[in-house]
Amino acid sequence: FHVDMDASETDKGTYPFYMLKEIDEQPNVMRQLASVYLAENGNPVIDPELLEAMQAADRIYIVGAGTSYHAGLVGARLLENLAHVPTEVHVSSEFAYENPILSDNPFFIFLSQSGETADSREVLVNVNNSGYPSLTITNVQNSTLSREATYTLLLHAGPEIAVASTKAYTAQIALEAILAKALGEVEGQIVAQNFDIRQQLGLVATGMQAIIDEKQELEKLSNDYLMDTARAFYIGRGIDYTVSLEAALKLKEISYVQAEGFASGELKHGTIALIEDGTPVIGIITQEKTAGLTRSNLVETKSRGAHIMTIVRQGLAQPDDTIVIPDVEELLTPLLSVVPAQLLAYYTSLNKGLDVDKPRNLAKSVTVE
Ligand code: AGP
Repeated sequence: FHVDMDASETDKGTYPFYMLKEIDEQPNVMRQLASVYLAENGNPVIDPELLEAMQAADRIYIVGAGTSYHAGLVGARLLENLAHVPTEVHVSSEFAYENPILSDNPFFIFLSQSGETADSREVLVNVNNSGYPSLTITNVQNSTLSREATYTLLLHAGPEIAVASTKAYTAQIALEAILAKALGEVEGQIVAQNFDIRQQLGLVATGMQAIIDEKQELEKLSNDYLMDTARAFYIGRGIDYTVSLEAALKLKEISYVQAEGFASGELKHGTIALIEDGTPVIGIITQEKTAGLTRSNLVETKSRGAHIMTIVRQGLAQPDDTIVIPDVEELLTPLLSVVPAQLLAYYTSLNKGLDVDKPRNLAKSVTVE
């Protein structure tokens, strides 16, 4: 098969590592997705047959591994809020070997940057054997998961070469948002009709750029608090909790800091015992409903000696916050709150002198089960 790729896309250029290049590309990926999947009037352009198949479903099952699974956790919230369709998210390596009781008319969404993850494919084989409809959201045209699913939507993010996934995560979420808006609209959901996805993706793109432009601040935070620590925590609630999982994965896979993403309210039920003097705890705070609660949970860790930091949406910011990110619709905040975490991971790995793009023990796509 033929892959369209021009040299500049696979060339690091002046970047020391692909990961930084791919983080920097995210604002453009947002614009690219808007130009591919939105009409001039801002309405989503999604294959009507795909939307019909999704409309016929009584429940959506999202399946993925690693970062793609984390993007699925955000996608479920988008689909439930904008299209009002019950949605479950599953880790593919678990789902493939369980006997889940499915709804009467399930629809499956496979999230996979590479389209080659063996665990996810195993689920797709079972789905196909059962005759259920499916959609693969992937960055790689003609990949196995794309060829074998009923429908495909491409991420158009350009090749992602660093093992640590960055732009694929944000592209997956943006495309899930477009899909959820499209489905919500055909379902007649007012909340979907009022969701100005084009304007929001524009705000996300400029917001991402603003965060990237301040990357020196993040390098400093990494030097001061993450470089010499053995462990760190990201905490949050709801959608912020899902981002904390992704933030922790980024940090651990390339800097080898043992990082955990935690539901902030759950921390005191045991794990808070791990907090020692100076343990970094980073709270992600972007949801009005839970901001106060996560702040109290941060204070609980501080009183046990933690060094607390925050990634906060502007509208909820307080004078002592560490990293303030621009405001966007609450459902889309993961597109911004993840960026400082990507950069913190990048600089921690870089300044430890590690191979940022090729961390030990890891491959870009995991093609064994
Ligand atoms: C992300 O930083 C990881 N390296 C990894 O978790 C990855 O997301 C996972 O292996 C899934 O890959 P896929 O999206 O290509 O299926």
